[in-house]
Amino acid sequence: YLNYHVPRTRREILEILLKGLRRLEYRGYDSAGVGIDGGNGKDWEANAKSIQLIKQRGKVKVLDEEINKQQDIDLDVEFDVHLGIAHTRWATHGEPSPVNSHPHRSDKNNEFIVIHNGIITNYKDLRKFLESKGYEFESETDTETIAKLVKYMYDNRENDDINFATLVERVTQQLEGAFALVFKSVHYPGEAVGTRRGSPLLMGVRSDHKLSADQIPVLYHMFFFSSDTCLFPVDEKAVEYYFASDASAVIEHTNRVIFLEDDDVAAVMEGRLSIHRIKRRAGDYPARAIQTLQMELQQIMKGNYSSFMQKEIFEQPESVVNTMRGRVNFDNNTVTLGGLKDHIKEIQRCRRLIVIACGTSYHAGVATRQVLEELTELPVMVELASDFLDRNTPVFRDDVCFFISQSGETADSLMALRYCKKRGALTVGITNTVGSSISRETDCGVHINAGPEIGVASTKAYTSQFVALIMFALLMCDDRISIQPRRREIIQGLRVLPDLIKEVLSLDDEIQKLATELYQQKSVLIMGRGYHYATCLEGALKIKEITYMHSEGILAGELKHGPLALVDKLMPVIMIIMRDHTYTKCQNALQQVVARQGRPILICDRDDHETIKNSSRTIKVPHCVDCLQGILSVIPLQLLSFHLAVLRGYDVFFYKNVVKAVSVV
Ligand code: F6R
Repeated sequence: YLNYHVPRTRREILEILLKGLRRLEYRGYDSAGVGIDGGNGKDWEANAKSIQLIKQRGKVKVLDEEINKQQDIDLDVEFDVHLGIAHTRWATHGEPSPVNSHPHRSDKNNEFIVIHNGIITNYKDLRKFLESKGYEFESETDTETIAKLVKYMYDNRENDDINFATLVERVTQQLEGAFALVFKSVHYPGEAVGTRRGSPLLMGVRSDHKLSADQIPVLYHMFFFSSDTCLFPVDEKAVEYYFASDASAVIEHTNRVIFLEDDDVAAVMEGRLSIHRIKRRAGDYPARAIQTLQMELQQIMKGNYSSFMQKEIFEQPESVVNTMRGRVNFDNNTVTLGGLKDHIKEIQRCRRLIVIACGTSYHAGVATRQVLEELTELPVMVELASDFLDRNTPVFRDDVCFFISQSGETADSLMALRYCKKRGALTVGITNTVGSSISRETDCGVHINAGPEIGVASTKAYTSQFVALIMFALLMCDDRISIQPRRREIIQGLRVLPDLIKEVLSLDDEIQKLATELYQQKSVLIMGRGYHYATCLEGALKIKEITYMHSEGILAGELKHGPLALVDKLMPVIMIIMRDHTYTKCQNALQQVVARQGRPILICDRDDHETIKNSSRTIKVPHCVDCLQGILSVIPLQLLSFHLAVLRGYDVFFYKNVVKAVSVV
C-alpha cells in the first residue's frame, strides 16, 4: 500500500495492510509479516531511508499484537508519502517461522525487501551463486534469493541512475518458476515495484479524480506516452495505490483496479504509475485498462467461474492441500494435528467413536468409516444428527463424539453436541469455520482449512472433511508397528491426491456431454458399495439438491432386496466400480443391472480394461489407494450435478428450499 500526498498515520497504514491480509485469510496461512518505513520524523524521504520489519508465526492477529508491542514504533506519527508491504505465507520451503516469513530482506540493513507468492524453481542455483559472492542467507526459503539478487544487481549497477523498475526487471530475467512480487527499498523512498509471472497481481488506484469511471480508461490512453510504458494520469496530487494478489484485499478501499499480466512491471514513482512490459512482442502494448469493479467482495472472489459451486469444485486440488498443509509430512510419514494434541491420548483410550453430522458432512463420515475402523480398531458409529437425537441414543463418558460441519452452525449437529457433552463424552469438532458455534463448544478439533464455501451445495468441504478424517485415523495408529506399511501407503496416496484430482477435473467436458444426455430425465439411480457407497449418497444428494431431479444412492449389495425392480432399459443408472476388495461383487451387481436391460454409465478405474471393454459409457478416473478413491469418484458426480442444473436452467446459486447453514431444527 502506497500513499502519495495522502496524510496517513502509521496506525492507519498498518491497519490497511493488516486488513488486506485478513481479507486473504480464507486461503489459509501459517505466518505473516510487514515491512514499513522506519523513521518517525517529519521528512518522509528521511523516514524511508530505513525499513522496519515485523514478522510472526501464526495468524494476522499475532502479528498485530507484535506490532503493538514494538517500543520504537510510533503509531501516531503521520506520513505524507509512505510505502508498506505485507504478506501471509503458507510454508513451502522452510517451516513456518518469523525468519522464513515475508518480507524477505537483502541484508541486515534491510536495503531491499520483497514479498512473493509462487515458487522459484531455480533458487538453489541462484543461492549458490549469491553465496559465492559473499551474500549470507538467514532463511531456508526460495524468496530470500530474490531479495539478495536485487541487492546484487544494485551493488553491481553500471550507472548510479538506474531506476527501481529496471533493477527489478533484471532480477526477474534470472528467475524461473512462478511469482508475483512487490519490492520496497531504502534506496528508492516512496517508490514501489510489482511484477508477476504465473501468479496473480493487481493494483488498486484510489484518488479524488472527478471523472466518471468510464472516462478513466480514455484518459489513461491519452497519457500513454511510449510504445511500452503507460502512465496512470494523476493530475491531482493525492493518490493511493494498492498492490494485491486478490481484489478482495483492496475492494473496500477502491473499486478501480488494473489486473497486471505476466511480465508486466508496474512501478510507482513520484505518485505516478507506469507499467512496463518485459518481453514486448510486436503489437503488444501494455494498455492495461483501469476496470471499475461493480461487484461485491463475494463476486470478486468468484473469479472466472460462472458460480461459486463450480469454482469450489475446481478449487479442490488446492483445498485438499490446504487441509493437509503443515500436518502431513510426506517424507517421514507423520501426521500432526495441533487441535487434537492435548486430547489424543484420551481419544486413543476411548471405547467407541461416534461421528455425528447432517447432509454432505454426514456422507464424509460414511465415506471414511471403514478406514477409521481399520486404523483405530474401534467401533465407529456414523449418525445423522437429527435421528441420533430422535432416538435418545445412549452416550457414555468413554465415547468420543465427532461433529462434522462445514458451517459449524447446523442446529441439529449443535444440539447433538450439547446432548453428548451433557453425557460426559469427549467432543471433537471438524469444521470449516473458525469461531463457529461447533468449533467453540467442542473440547478440541480440526479446522479443515478448505477456505470459505459459498456455494450452497457443499463440494470442497466434503473432500476436505474426508481428508481431515483420514488424517485423524492415521494419527490414531502412528505408533502401531504392524500397521505402518498401510499408513505409509495412505500417506503416499495423500501426497499424489491433488494431482489426481486435477486429472479428474480434466474430464469436465466429457461429463458435460453426459449431462446433455441425461438432463431431461426424471430420475437417476447411483449404485456402488464399500468405499463408494458414500459417493452414491453424496452424488444423489447433489443431483436432488441443485437439479430437482429425483436421484437415489443405492448400496449395490442391497440391489436384489428391492431396488432392482426400478431398473429397466429406460432408467438412467450410474454405477461405481473400482478395483478394490468389492470389485467382484460390483461386477455381479453390474450383471444384475444388465440382465434387466439396464445400460449403466460406469465410473471406473481407467486401467480397468475389462470393465471398460464391456461398457459403452464409462467415466475413467485415475487409480489411487482404496480408502482415498472415494474423493476421486465423487468429483465426476459433483461436476455432473452442476452441468445438469445449468442445462435444466437453474441458477446454481439460488436454490429453492436449500440454504447454506441450516440453523433451525
Ligand atoms: C448439501 C449440503 C448440506 C450440508 C448440511 C450440513 O450440499 O450442503 O447437506 O452438508 O446442511 O451442513 P454443515 O456441514 O454446515 O453442518
